[in-house]
Amino acid sequence: MSLFARTLPASRAAGTLLAAAAAVTTIVLFGPQILGIVAHATPHGPDVALFMAQPAVIKIHILAAVAGVGLGATILSLRKGNGPHRALGWTWVLLMGAAAASSLFIVGLNGDHWSPIHLLSGWTLIILPFAIRAARKHDVMSHRRAMTSLFWGASIVAGAFTFLPGRLMWDLFMG
Ligand code: HEM
Repeated sequence: MSLFARTLPASRAAGTLLAAAAAVTTIVLFGPQILGIVAHATPHGPDVALFMAQPAVIKIHILAAVAGVGLGATILSLRKGNGPHRALGWTWVLLMGAAAASSLFIVGLNGDHWSPIHLLSGWTLIILPFAIRAARKHDVMSHRRAMTSLFWGASIVAGAFTFLPGRLMWDLFMG
């Protein structure tokens, strides 16, 4: 059994634990304030002026991450293993790589230092090459598990947390 196949379950468990810990911490620390702000939310189309005012690295991060969510969902719903899957898959890898790499240059939640969310960036940058290697070795099970856990863990869970009150995505669509 490859090192990847052996370490994947632990990696998936770590990702799930991280997401659960982040959710519980957020609810316990900020639950009442969040409920109060959500009650007064005013959903609207994207605030383009606010988006354009952001540093380039944040614009790149948002565009790559949001495109990754759409493309990831598309890939999961299509047939696997054929030419289109490979082409779209490589594009998704580039988008996720760009989202994770750009995030290494974004700070704010923890002052001028990396925050626990940066663990997700590191996890993504480690798992992506392993998942590609599994595909090239025709280890379909490991490839599928790694890519779907990245999609749900990094794209969907990380993405959902960016829409919390006080974060930029909230201001772009709800502020
Ligand atoms: C739909 C998906 C995503 C959206 C919309 C999004 C959006 C954002 C935005 C707007 C910021 C900067 C402003 C803020 O913190 O409010 C940010 C920061 C960050 N994002 Fe994302 N992101 C997404 C996915 C990801 C993914 C996939 C990763 C990692 C693999 C990631 C890692 C980070 C990190 C580490 C930060 C810096 C947090 C800090 O200030 O410490 N994000 N994201």
